[in-house]
Amino acid sequence: MSPVLSLSGVTVRRGRKLLLNNISWQVNDDERWVILGPNGAGKTTLLQIAAARLFPTAGQVQILDEQLGAVDVFELRPRIGLSSNAIANSLPGHETALNAVVTAAYGVTGRWREEYERFDEKRAFSLLNAWGVGTVFDRPFSTLSEGERKRVQIARALMTDPELLLLDEPGAGLDLAGREALVARTSELMADEAAPATVLVTHHLEEIPPGFTHVLLLRDGEVVDAGPISSILTSQSLSSTFDMPLELTERHGRYSAFMKQ
Ligand SMILES: Nc1ncnc2c1ncn2[C@@H]1O[C@H](COP(=O)(O)OP(=O)(O)OP(=O)(O)O)[C@@H](O)[C@H]1O
Ligand SMILES: [Mg+2]
Repeated sequence: MSPVLSLSGVTVRRGRKLLLNNISWQVNDDERWVILGPNGAGKTTLLQIAAARLFPTAGQVQILDEQLGAVDVFELRPRIGLSSNAIANSLPGHETALNAVVTAAYGVTGRWREEYERFDEKRAFSLLNAWGVGTVFDRPFSTLSEGERKRVQIARALMTDPELLLLDEPGAGLDLAGREALVARTSELMADEAAPATVLVTHHLEEIPPGFTHVLLLRDGEVVDAGPISSILTSQSLSSTFDMPLELTERHGRYSAFMKQ
């Protein structure tokens, strides 16, 4: 067990607003974390830091044994797989699904002049297949359904065989069957010993794939609690995080929560 991500006293300030306030958090290579918290809690901001795409205003960040601020982020980023709306929005709509995945190998979002190896295309295609979207490989990204786009984004995040995988709301916009397929596929991936350390942001407890080991609860840019899911995720901690009396239920490794009646 060794740390892949380590934050110490991380603060992000924009004007007078504190997006993150004094966050200390460590992710080890055999851990799979879920981040839960209300809209605006700072989840995406935290993931942007973990992805070496945002520098904190204060504090120390170690990613994959490199110190953020003292490393060439263009060398570090290919070692981190990130799936997020921001990345999806930066993908040119006319690019095919296959190119949206292949270009991750070069840390770029548009395919225009680079020389790609046949090997990369094969890998991208097999990732699309593994995530159930092999049939849309030649379709422009902009014509894909929300669910198809989400899966292409995950395939893209995995393209570089990352040591750290960051998924920001991968289940948002999916229908029930799509969500269940995503949860099952993610859970399968997490069961693989070779799978990278993973951090998943979600709004819905139903989207936590079985096999996730840890949870970080975030509210107003601060950590409410963090640690093993089995001890930290409780009705009480969820209620404090969302400022509402909530009742948590767990069945066969799947979670849900409702307002207490
Ligand atoms: N440049 C900025 N200037 C001021 N405030 C900002 C800036 N960028 C983000 N914020 C604010 O920081 C807070 C945290 O944003 P963030 O996107 O990290 O939240 P989140 O937890 O991911 O929310 P959501 O669940 O809605 O995705 C929000 O209130 C957002 O409006
Ligand atoms: Mg967000």
